[in-house]
Amino acid sequence: MKTTIALDLILVGFGNVGRRFARLLQEQEGVLARTYGLSWRVVGIATRSHGIAVNPAGLDLAKALTLVEGHGSLGKLRGNTATSPRDTPGSALEMIESATHAGDADRVQVMVETTVLDIARGQPAIDHIRKALRAGAHVITANKGPVAFSYREIDDFATALGRSFLFEGAVMDGVPIFNLVRDTLPAVTILGFRGIINSTTNHILTRMEQGIAFGEALAEMQAAGIAEADASLDVDGWDAAAKTAALLNVWMKAEVTPRDIDRTGIAALTPELLQDAKRQGQRLRLVATGGRQDGKAFGRVAPELLPEGHALARLNGMQNALVLQTDLLGEICITQLDSGLTQTAYALLSDLVAVRRRLRPA
Ligand SMILES: NC(=O)c1ccc[n+]([C@@H]2O[C@H](COP(=O)([O-])OP(=O)(O)OC[C@H]3O[C@@H](n4cnc5c(N)ncnc54)[C@H](OP(=O)(O)O)[C@@H]3O)[C@@H](O)[C@H]2O)c1
Repeated sequence: MKTTIALDLILVGFGNVGRRFARLLQEQEGVLARTYGLSWRVVGIATRSHGIAVNPAGLDLAKALTLVEGHGSLGKLRGNTATSPRDTPGSALEMIESATHAGDADRVQVMVETTVLDIARGQPAIDHIRKALRAGAHVITANKGPVAFSYREIDDFATALGRSFLFEGAVMDGVPIFNLVRDTLPAVTILGFRGIINSTTNHILTRMEQGIAFGEALAEMQAAGIAEADASLDVDGWDAAAKTAALLNVWMKAEVTPRDIDRTGIAALTPELLQDAKRQGQRLRLVATGGRQDGKAFGRVAPELLPEGHALARLNGMQNALVLQTDLLGEICITQLDSGLTQTAYALLSDLVAVRRRLRPA
C-alpha cells in the first residue's frame, strides 16, 4: 500500500502564479494522492494588500481565491487566527511564524514563495525563505530573486537543516531545466549557455516584426498576467539578467547578482529595425549568454542578430529555449513551445512532488 505524506502549505504571495498554483493543486488532488502519495492543505496565505490568513486546521482555499479575486480581504476567512490580517510591513514573516509554530508534528511543512521579483536585492523573498527554513519548512519558489542574489547561502542553509530548496519555475516555467541537470546529467559539467529566456520581450519582438507597436504588444502580455508587475523589468532586460545570474549561480558555481550581468534591453528597438532584419534573413532577439572567461563567470543579456536558421531565431511569441554547452554531451537545446501561468504553476507542483519524493518512497 502507498505511504501518504501530508503536507501543510504556506503560501507567501497569492497573485497570478500563486492562485494558478492553488487551482492546479485542486485539479490534481487525486493524481497527487494516488500516484505520488501526497495529500495537502493550505494553512497560511500572505499577500501585500489582501491581508494574511492562518488556520492550522486548513484554510478554505476556494473561498480564499474568491475573496482575493473579488478584491476582498483574507482576514474574512473562517477560522483565521492571524492577529494582524491587514497590510503591515512584517505581516508575511508573522504569518510564516504563526503557521509554522502551529504546525502538527505529523505533517510536513512547505513554504511556497511567489512574491514579486525585487531586482535591487531579491527581498523580502530571501527573508521569507530564511524564516521558513529556520522554522523547519521546506521551500519551493517561482521567484528568481533569491536564486539570483543568494543561491549559495540559501542552498547551504537548507542543506545544513536537511530541508529542500527548489526553484524550477525561476527559469523557463515548468520546463525541467534545473531538474534535468541535477537529476539526469550525472558527471556532466555545464561550460556555458545561450538562450531566449524572457517570454514578454520575445512576444514583443515577434509582434513588432509583424508591424505591431511596442505598447500594444506589451499590453497583450500584461493582460495575460505574463509581464512582470513592473514591466520595465522585462523590457530593460532585468528579468533575463536575473535568470542569467540564477543559471550561473546554480550551474557554474558563480556568486553573481543581476547587477553583474552586462545588460541591454529592447527599448531602443523599433518595428522598422525588426522588419529590416527579417528582410535580410535575420532575426533580432534578446539573447542571454553565460560562461567563463579567464576562469571568471560572465553573463550578458542583449539584442542580437541571429541568422534565420539558428535554433533561437525560430522562437516566436512566448517561446523560450536554452542551448547548454557541456563537456560530455556537446550542445543540448531545450525548447519551450508553450508557456504561460499554468506552466509556471506546474513548476511549483513538480517541486512539491520532488519534496515528497525526497522524504520517503511512496
Ligand atoms: N507571471 C508569470 O508568468 C511568471 C513566470 C515565472 C515566474 N514568475 C515569478 O513568480 C512570482 C509571482 O509572479 P506573479 O505574476 O504571480 O506576480 P503578482 O501577480 O504580482 O503576485 C505577487 C503576489 O505577491 C504578493 N506580495 C508582494 N509582496 C509581498 C510581501 N512583501 N508580502 C506578502 N505578499 C507579497 C502580492 O500581494 P497582492 O496580491 O496584495 O499584490 C501578490 O499576491 C514573481 O517572482 C515572478 O517573477 C512569474
